[in-house]
Amino acid sequence: MELNLECECNLICLDDFESEAKTRLQYSDYIYYATGADDQQTIQECRAAFKRYRLRPRILRDVSSRNLDTTVLGQPISFPIGISPTALQKRAHHEGELATAKAADKANTLMIVSSHSTTGVEDIATVTPNALHWMQVHIFNVRAITERLVRRAEKAGFKALVVTVDSPVLGNRMEWRRVRDYAMKRISFRFPNLETDDPEEATNVEKINKKANNLSGFNDSETWEDIRWLKGFSHIPVVVKGVLTAKAAKEAVPCGVDGIIVSAHGGRQLDCVPAPIDALSEVVYAVKDSDVEVYVDGGIRTGTDVFKALALGAKAVLLGRPILWGLACDVSWQNGENGVSQVLNIIKEEFSLTMALMGCTSLADIEPSMVVHESKYLTSSRL
Ligand SMILES: Cc1cc2nc3c(=O)[nH]c(=O)nc-3n(C[C@H](O)[C@H](O)[C@H](O)COP(=O)(O)O)c2cc1C
Repeated sequence: MELNLECECNLICLDDFESEAKTRLQYSDYIYYATGADDQQTIQECRAAFKRYRLRPRILRDVSSRNLDTTVLGQPISFPIGISPTALQKRAHHEGELATAKAADKANTLMIVSSHSTTGVEDIATVTPNALHWMQVHIFNVRAITERLVRRAEKAGFKALVVTVDSPVLGNRMEWRRVRDYAMKRISFRFPNLETDDPEEATNVEKINKKANNLSGFNDSETWEDIRWLKGFSHIPVVVKGVLTAKAAKEAVPCGVDGIIVSAHGGRQLDCVPAPIDALSEVVYAVKDSDVEVYVDGGIRTGTDVFKALALGAKAVLLGRPILWGLACDVSWQNGENGVSQVLNIIKEEFSLTMALMGCTSLADIEPSMVVHESKYLTSSRL
């Protein structure tokens, strides 16, 4: 199997895309994307934690042919790396979510669309009618807003709902607060997925728009009852995003959820939580007797990160910021999907390379014993 690590430009890894994006984006837009809550300990931890796991390769296996195919909630994708929901993609590129959707479609992988995307679900579905999309929703104060968004996503052919459960209020994003007023004066965006003709709802949506542009909270009274409510009326599977403990995972299962995303919201909500990669094992263990699929996001930047997450029990991983960097780095500015395609291709090829070096030819070959925490090497001479 040929490795294809060639790239049209000199951006050869995902971190290169961030460095380049930083030079191309308006400063305040870069800050909006890159930074997190409070002291940003969780952002750092998300990356650092991956480096504390060690790989234990199998050797002398024929790895000349490798198959990265998998499924998420029964839907086939070509490799186990999808796209997390990120708001306001038009800050990075004028095509925003449409560019991301085209790149994800071309790569044959999953895109989760943010409720606060700057493109409507119908437009995304029209441009990429056969692609795999999931819709991220919040339980808004006015449930009718959530319900209408669910109906629109279902009608547009979206295959699952992703309900974000780590944001009853918005995290204290200090770096963003420092530049927010300037950024808002420069440009403020609308959120087509939340728009409505109903005047009463429109007033509420207007409030949400204002809040989201100002980045205030959503609904501080949401409970597991709301997940049951969502599951009760939706016609497509429900995934909860933002679980970091076995206890929360065990509470999710009886609500009938179909999937869990182990996520720290990219360090933008509660600071000082564990890195998702460290929380993954306890969540996987907690739901092992159910059919719930577990995915993880946060700090995934390399093929070895992907391998570690899969070995620790994730069905697939998701990328947040690297997609935004890809959008921002699009070389031509004509066709935003190029940058995202490059990001997806680089990490896919790195993962394929890791598979080869680990002696694996399919995802079924990846075993938990192939990844150990570095502390095992520090404390024991015999593993
Ligand atoms: C700019 C930005 C906007 C985001 N918007 C949302 C959102 O609208 N809904 C949501 O559930 N998560 C949102 N997230 C969190 C991501 O879905 C994801 O959990 C996180 O970015 C993963 O970490 P990574 O950026 O290190 O890959 C956002 C993250 C960023 C960086």
